[in-house]
Amino acid sequence: MNKLNVPGPKARALIERDKKVISASYPRGYPFVMDHGKGVEVWDPDGNRFIDFMSGIAVLSTGHANPRVVKAVQDAAEKFLHISSDFYHEGWVRLSEKLDEIAPFEETAKTFLTNSGTEAVETAIKLAKFRTKRHNFIGFFGAFHGRTMGSVAFTASKPHYHRGFYPLMPGVTHVPFPNPYRPILERRPGEDYGETVVRFIEEEIFDHNVPGDEIAGVLVEPIQGEGGYLVPPDGFFPALRKLCDKYGILLIADEVQSGMGRTGKWWAIEHFGVEPDIVTSAKGIASGMPLGACIARESVMTWHKGTHGNTFGGNPISCAASIATIELLEEQYLTNATEVGEYMLDALQEIQTCHPSVGDVRGKGLMIGVEFVKDKTTKEPNEALRDMVEKYGFQHGLLLLGCGRSVIRLAPPLCLTRKEADEGLKIFEYALTLAEHKQGMI
Ligand SMILES: Cc1ncc(COP(=O)(O)O)c(C=O)c1O
Repeated sequence: MNKLNVPGPKARALIERDKKVISASYPRGYPFVMDHGKGVEVWDPDGNRFIDFMSGIAVLSTGHANPRVVKAVQDAAEKFLHISSDFYHEGWVRLSEKLDEIAPFEETAKTFLTNSGTEAVETAIKLAKFRTKRHNFIGFFGAFHGRTMGSVAFTASKPHYHRGFYPLMPGVTHVPFPNPYRPILERRPGEDYGETVVRFIEEEIFDHNVPGDEIAGVLVEPIQGEGGYLVPPDGFFPALRKLCDKYGILLIADEVQSGMGRTGKWWAIEHFGVEPDIVTSAKGIASGMPLGACIARESVMTWHKGTHGNTFGGNPISCAASIATIELLEEQYLTNATEVGEYMLDALQEIQTCHPSVGDVRGKGLMIGVEFVKDKTTKEPNEALRDMVEKYGFQHGLLLLGCGRSVIRLAPPLCLTRKEADEGLKIFEYALTLAEHKQGMI
């Protein structure tokens, strides 16, 4: 397989300039420099071509520079760039009507638009407090909800998100996420592990720590993203919904990463037959234009004028990009995510049988996690191998992104064809073989 000379001279020069003027806090994994992209392919300034299996962290739902999205952006930009959230415009209303149509609950949805995922989560936190007049929450270990002062209090995937930033927003109690590959709570006979976690919340947290009737909301990713692309067992969400109803708690589904068609349904929570009260969205909602949304049942979004707002909310360019994105997903990419997702999952499970380091393969649609271990019996995480797979992938023309302790997340654009999937998977398996060789596993 052809090894690229990366980063090439132009990429290296740009990275040197970047180091001088850009905040060092960004978690760059490897030195890819973007020049341009088309669909699932991207090129760096030295002319190297890559297959993109990470979509700018699960953002480019319709692929790079989708012509319909680009045209929608151009048309909107020619009309006006901004008017502020103090006024009204067609695109904003149309997008909110669309979000009402696709919201994962029967009740009419009201939407607050933001510029990012974290801001959508902040909105949900404030709304839950305002609506319930309570100030405590349940969050999950491994969760990622953003890095601003409210959302970061829930984020619990890595300690560096908290180190140096205490005190965080008070009132968040974390519990284990139902990880079927690595359960840490004891399951009772006949119990689904998701039900075990919900029982833990009621019997341990509510009975010993925070009273259930003082909890405003449970904030949860229907498929945990940054924590390792973890799919909860089927019993989890039905049990959680029941618990929330019992104590008058709002169920907040953070679909920033798992939503907007990534799993083959509009929202990942739809796989579990449960309706949340509030949904947060961002990333794939506008194919790369900055946009987030806090979508709530109308009976929940009851706050009044002035309680919450922002300058850029309802930006016309982002709204236009989002409407075009939703139409494309409706017409073809939602179905494609299911079909090509199943194809990829099968292929990866086949790869798992031939490689000693692949402990687990899981996912829904085009949200797939591959977890690497030192030994399939002990399941000891193999972080070093995961990092090598990422690096060798890059050197051979594939963009990958890690998550969890030793997981690669596969989150390609939802327009991925089987042919492109094959090309990327071939590089993936080659990178994996090199890494296993390097560790003496094969
Ligand atoms: C589930 C989830 N929530 C919230 C966020 C924060 O989004 P942003 O980075 O746009 O603030 C992310 C980002 O990765 C996420 O995955």
